[in-house]
Order: sequence, then structure tokens, then C-alpha cells
Amino acid sequence: MSQLFTPFHLGSLTLPNRIVIAPMCQYSSDDGKATSWHTIHLGQLALSGAGLLIVEATAVEAVGRITQQDLGLWDDETEQALSGVVKAIREHSTIPLGIQLGHAGRKASCKRPWEGGNSIPDGQPGGWKTVAPSAIPYNPEQDETPEAMTQERIDALKEAYVAAAKRADRLGFDLLELHAAHGYLLHQFLSPLSNQRTDQYGGSLQNRMRLVLEVYQALRAAFPAEKPIGVRISATDWADGGWDLEQSVALAKALDELGCSYIHVSSGGNAMQQKISISPNYQVPFADRIRQAVKMPVIAVGLITEPEQAEAIVATGQADLVALARGILYDPRWPWHAAAKLGEKAIAPNQYKRSEPHALKGLFNDK
Ligand SMILES: Cc1cc2nc3c(=O)[nH]c(=O)nc-3n(C[C@H](O)[C@H](O)[C@H](O)COP(=O)(O)O)c2cc1C
Repeated sequence: MSQLFTPFHLGSLTLPNRIVIAPMCQYSSDDGKATSWHTIHLGQLALSGAGLLIVEATAVEAVGRITQQDLGLWDDETEQALSGVVKAIREHSTIPLGIQLGHAGRKASCKRPWEGGNSIPDGQPGGWKTVAPSAIPYNPEQDETPEAMTQERIDALKEAYVAAAKRADRLGFDLLELHAAHGYLLHQFLSPLSNQRTDQYGGSLQNRMRLVLEVYQALRAAFPAEKPIGVRISATDWADGGWDLEQSVALAKALDELGCSYIHVSSGGNAMQQKISISPNYQVPFADRIRQAVKMPVIAVGLITEPEQAEAIVATGQADLVALARGILYDPRWPWHAAAKLGEKAIAPNQYKRSEPHALKGLFNDK
């Protein structure tokens, strides 16, 4: 019996299996508004048979976009645009649907990756003034210095998160993921490399964690209690003097005490000088360490590409769930292929059931 294909409960939400589609920015929105790309992209992933689909980092404020083409959820128009995508998915798939809420902070105002990804100065097309915990650029050679956020600005940010959470609920999302990883705004507050504030949001670990915990609590108060809210973190900056695993354990414990629904354990993205040696499972030991310290479920991610590999991570208790990003873009039927390899059933729409290979009779669910 495969553990990967054993259903999993997150709050009142039942995931049919432990395969999570990681959030992936598409840089394909029209001033924050979802486009037909989102319908086909998320639509095909919704037919993958995965256990949970988390929509890409979605900006809670326009200045929180990595690129001008990032998805947003900050006003009626952006909400309206996303409603069409959610409706299409809901009509044709039962996949649980989450959305990652984010803010890029000092890593905002950039070109799309396929246009080079460079930062765009304020005042130039597609560029704007970025904000951050402290006036420290990510890349001092290329980036303009961000504006250090005042207390009023921080209060407005929390309100923006709350407003986006309410919109996400209205749209029918089952789950929220708070993006506190990859060097974006909340991660910038956590790390001493990017946060050198002298107020209640800087200095001690407690102070640097304050904003993430406050935003989590604000979201929790605004989003229906039965719907899960998880947090994605970078477990380490992979750089001297930065955020590290022990601080991540402390943050995870604090979130656990607040009733956080899960923690999604990634790494890196906040320091130009980061040194990462990448190989399969390279972030799994972080998930494993954090899982030993908390009660909430843990998601492992990062170069998990093989069914047996994913099965082993879950079966040995290194994580409760595994997330895939590039692997499922490459093979959007990954969950079907994993089910076939592990001798389990795959979730397929009726329209596709005739594709069941003769040698794999009985692969598809009969519902
Ligand atoms: C195209 C693309 C877009 C991504 N966008 C996001 C994002 O919106 N939010 C996020 O937390 N991580 C994002 N990531 C990181 C992935 O979620 C994932 O953590 C990373 O790719 C490692 O997993 P993998 O080895 O399965 O690809 C993105 C990755 C890719 C490839």
C-alpha cells in the first residue's frame, strides 16, 4: 500500500493523495489579472490527478509583484479575472485548490525570466519603487535601493493580505499559502541579511519573526476557520550570518502554536552570495528536521522527480506531503505515472479514461 496515494487531511480538507503541485509564477497576467493562459495552464494541472494544486505567488499589492505580469488579487478587477479561471477548474475537476499570497518586497519590479529577469528602475516602463524591511538592495550592482517600510506601511501591508484572503475565500479557494520563502518580502523580514531594523520588527529573532506571525494571525482571523492556511519558508539562506535551519525550527514552532495548518519547506533566494549544492532531495533534510519539532504537517519540495523517491520521503516520515514544480510541468500526468509505478489508482476525468493502457487495466478511478 503506497503512502503517497493515501489520502491526507488538512483541516477539513481531504487531499486524495500526498502529491502537491507547488506554486509556480507564470508571469502571464495583464496588470494583475489572470488571462486565458491561467485557464489552460491551471486547467491541465487540475486534470493531473494530484492531491492539491496551489496557484502561483499572487501579489496582495501591485508593488508586490516580481514583474508587471505577475498575478494579483488586490481589487475587484483582479478578483473578477481569477473567478473565471476558478470556475473553469471547478466545473471539470475536483482537485483541492489553494492560492499562494505573496509580496516580492525588494525583489519586485523586474523583467520576466525569459526577458532576462533584471530589475527595472522606478520610472521606466514596468518599473516602480520597491519596499523592504531595510534600505538594502538584493543585488547592489543592479538594483535600486528599496524604501524601508514605515509602521504605517506595514499596517497597510497587513490589511492588503487580509483583503486578498477575503477575496480568495469568495473565489472559493480551499486553502491559503503564505509566501515567506525565496527572498520575498516576509523572508526579507526574517533574515538578518535583509532586515537591519531597530524597531519591533528587527534585531532579535522574535522581532524578525513578528511580521510573519502577525500576517499569519491576520489571515487566520479573516479566512474561514475550517479552511487550512499554511506557510512556505526558506529553511536557510545558505549564507553566513543569514537565516538558518535553527531559526526556521523556532519559526515553525511558533506557527505550530498558532495552529498553522502546514509548513512548506524550501530554501534560499535571499542572498546573492548563497552557496547551494543541488541534488535530488536536497531540501528534504530541512523538512525532516522541522517535522521532528512540530505537530503540523510538513511539505517537502525540491528536485523530487521520481515516484519511488516521493514514496520514500512520505513512507519514512521525512515529510507528510511532497510538492513538485518543474517535474510536473515536464510531465503533467506525473501522478498517473506514479500511480502506475506504485500499483495505485489514478484520478482521471471520464473524457480521458479510454487512454488507460491495456497493460495497466484498472489504473483509473471508476468515479
Ligand atoms: C516556473 C516556476 C515558477 C515558480 N514560482 C514560484 C512561486 O510562485 N512561489 C514559490 O513559492 N515558488 C515558486 N517556484 C519554486 C517552486 O515552487 C519549487 O519550490 C522549486 O521549483 C523546487 O521544486 P522542483 O525541483 O520540483 O522544481 C517556481 C518554480 C518554477 C520552476
